[in-house]
Order: sequence, then structure tokens, then C-alpha cells
Amino acid sequence: MHERPEHALDRRDFLRTGATAGLATALGSLGTAGDPVRAAARPMPEFRVPPVDPVRIGFVGVGGMGSAHVQNLLKIEGVEIRAVCDIVPEKVARVQKWVVEAGQREPEGYSRGPTDFRRLCERGDLDLVFNATPWEWHVPISVAAMEAGKHAATEVPAATTLDECWQLVETAEKTSRHCVMMENCCYDRPEMLCLNLVKQGLLGEVLAGEAGYCHDLRALKFSSEGEGLWRIAHSIRRNANLYPTHGLGPVAQCMDINRGDSFAYLVSMSSPSRGLNLTAARLFGANDARATRRYALGDVNVSLIHTALGKVITLYHDTNTPRPYSRIHHVQGTQGIFEKYPDRVYIEGRGKNDAWETLDKYAEFDHPLWTTQADKARGAGHGGMDYIEDYRLIDALRNGRPLDMDVYDAAAWSVVTPLSERSVAQKSRRVDFPDFTRGGWRTPRTLHVMEL
Ligand SMILES: NC(=O)c1ccc[n+]([C@@H]2O[C@H](COP(=O)([O-])OP(=O)(O)OC[C@H]3O[C@@H](n4cnc5c(N)ncnc54)[C@H](O)[C@@H]3O)[C@@H](O)[C@H]2O)c1
Repeated sequence: MHERPEHALDRRDFLRTGATAGLATALGSLGTAGDPVRAAARPMPEFRVPPVDPVRIGFVGVGGMGSAHVQNLLKIEGVEIRAVCDIVPEKVARVQKWVVEAGQREPEGYSRGPTDFRRLCERGDLDLVFNATPWEWHVPISVAAMEAGKHAATEVPAATTLDECWQLVETAEKTSRHCVMMENCCYDRPEMLCLNLVKQGLLGEVLAGEAGYCHDLRALKFSSEGEGLWRIAHSIRRNANLYPTHGLGPVAQCMDINRGDSFAYLVSMSSPSRGLNLTAARLFGANDARATRRYALGDVNVSLIHTALGKVITLYHDTNTPRPYSRIHHVQGTQGIFEKYPDRVYIEGRGKNDAWETLDKYAEFDHPLWTTQADKARGAGHGGMDYIEDYRLIDALRNGRPLDMDVYDAAAWSVVTPLSERSVAQKSRRVDFPDFTRGGWRTPRTLHVMEL
């Protein structure tokens, strides 16, 4: 269970466990979230709101991923895109054109600088503010949306610091709004088939998992457009798992994290940092500042997460080395194992002893979302999973269902970045996860994506 050694004391515990008003004020004055939020906060598992139909959306950040979401949303029944915001006016204009071409009214454009999303959030005719901006904007935009009475959907990771994770949880609780992190990898077909195998008991009791984000982003980090404009700043400053949620989310769902189990603690270590210096030297010359500067991010970061019930997850982050893409996704149970990259399954007593089977042998376990939505998902981003993800969000809102992933998932999956950073900086010292659910994780509850 959650032991709480003193090094795990976070700012919230500090405020709650006898800090004087003076100390609390002092912390508040450091620019942190207001304490009234904390006083009002109540965990809200199974949170639902009355059906919202149509779902009126304001979209913030329409670069690569934001544009893909907009294209999906325009194909989903019951969606109206009423407002669009980006710091680049041409990107706003492009999306306005798409919306009109899709037969909707032209959405109002917002491009008066990096905080113009605030004006968008204040509109009276929006239900949901969806953002696909650079990481540092996810929390300011989501919080502004919820404070203005809108639900918030954010691209991954939902937050990049411990304090930001709490801000999302506490603002969602205080305002009674949804706050969902759009983790599309939970909707990929093999991951969903794996989840179905787990939920139907074919893998037995899940004991361990292995996951990661292994994606050669060396060239992208030096690009002069898109993510090249902002992503490398994080590699310069932070030595951690900077992008934990793609790999971790689907494994967490197989382990009922926040629904009967929880992440208890992690230890983390990083390899030396080489890839970015070598790449910059190759691209720009050995004397270029980008080739000689120091990058904090170790090329390969490995974290080990232990759950409250004793399950083990090995989580990788590697965006700096030459290698084919992988999120790993191994799920080991008492009866068998699922692996991705390549997709394969071994279930004791089902196939040949000691031999992998391919997924076509398990077609009957395809998740029903894929058997019903595959046609519509065809051609959408990342093999169609992005469409399924957007469809599920809209469908849940239109039907007043709890979302497949909630604010506690967003916080628990995203907080790996600051916790791994802390562990790496302290010779892989154990760092406890905060309990964003305040004990709620102990109560088993439905993973709604399994209920169609
Ligand atoms: N789930 C996935 O598979 C996936 C894939 C790619 C990116 N992403 C995530 O999506 C987000 C965006 O990534 P991207 O690849 O689209 O990057 P991008 O740089 O292409 O797009 C970001 C957009 O946000 C705009 N922007 C920046 N600051 C803004 C602000 N303050 N207000 C309004 N607009 C602002 C930029 O002008 C740009 O158009 C990131 O969080 C990234 O991690 C997720």
C-alpha cells in the first residue's frame, strides 16, 4: 500500500498536515494555485454531467495534432466547432475554412497572442475547450476552460509538474467539469485487443507490464517548424521521462490503476546524453552552439513503477537514438503475455507450448469499438486510433456517460515526468506517487471503454 516516507511529502500534504496559515500564504505567494481550491476539493470518480448535444467546441492550438483532431471532429455527428485559436493567424484561417467546407458556420478566430485563449474560454456558447498546444500551455488552458465553466480536453501530457497535476485535479473537482487527457494510444487496435483479453481473463492475473515511448525525434527536435519550435527546450532543461503517457496509459488500464490499484512509487535512471549533440554536429557542424551545448535529457530513461498491489511496470523514454518506433506494450499475466512491436500473444494451453501466436488468431477478441467504428476511423491519424478517441469523447458527452479516462488518470500518468526527474536527480531514489484520488483508487470501478 502507499507508504509515505518523508521525502514523498508534497506541497498538498504540507499544506494539509499542519502548515500554519503563514506558511501556506508564503507558498501561495510563490504563484501556486489558490488554497480555496484545495479546501473545496472532493474526489469525483464516476463523474458525469447531463447529456450535452450538440457538443460546442472551442479549439486551441491547430498545428499538427490539433488539425488532425479538428478533421476528426468535423466527421463526428453532434459536434459544432464554434471558435478556434492559435498564435499563428494563418492556421486559424485554415481551420475556419475547413469548418465552413464541412457545412458549419465559420468559427470565430482568436489569434491575439499566447493568452488569447482566455477570451475564447469566456464565450458563452461553448461546452468544451480542446487544446493541442505545446506542453507548457496545457494546464493554463485547461484551468481557464474549467474556471469558465467548460469541460477541458488536452493533448498529452496533461501536465509537466507535480503542482500542475494537482491544479488539474483540484480545478476539475472545484468546478465540477470534466478534464480529460486525450491519450490516443489507449485506443489503438492491438492495445484494445489486449485490454479485452485482460478483461475477459485470458491473461490471468496481470503481474507486470513494460511500456515506453521510443521514437527517434532527433531531426524533429532541430526542425524550424512544428514541434521543432518548442519540444527541444524540454530536452535542454529536464532529465526525466518527458513523455510517459503513450506507453503507460494502456498498461495502466490493464492494471485497473485508479480503479482498484494505484501507482505507489517509482525509481528512475537515465543514460548519458549523446544523441542531440551528435545530431546537431552532423546537421550544423561540430562548432555550432547546438552541437556543443549541454542537453540535460539522458538519451534513454528507464523508470520502474511499483503499484500498491505489487505489480511492476518498466517504462522507457527514448527520443534521442536511432531506432524504429515502439511503445513496447508488454502485459504479463499468470496465464500468458501480450506483446506489441511485433504484435503477438502467448496464452498457456491455447496455442503451441512456448510459441508466439499472431493476432489474427485472436480476432474474436477485437475490441467492439474497432469492429463497429473501423470504417469511419480508416484514414484518420495514427492508424485510425485518433478518430476512435475523439468519437468516444463526443459520444460520452452526448450521452452523459463518465469519460473513458478522467482527471485522475491524466494526473497519475502525467506525474511520471516530475517524479522521474526527481528520482534521476537523486541517484534513482524511490519517489512516491501522490494519491490524487485520496483513497478512491481502492474502490474497483468500471473502465468505461469496456462498456459500449
Ligand atoms: N497524441 C499524439 O499522438 C500526439 C502526436 C503529436 C503531438 N501530440 C501532442 O499535441 C500537442 C501539440 O503538438 P503538435 O505536434 O501539434 O505541435 P505543433 O507545434 O504542430 O502545434 C502546436 C500549435 O499550438 C500553437 N500554439 C502555441 N502556443 C499557443 C498558445 N499559447 N495559444 C494558442 N496556440 C498556441 C502553435 O502555433 C501550433 O500551431 C503536444 O502536446 C504534443 O505532445 C500528441
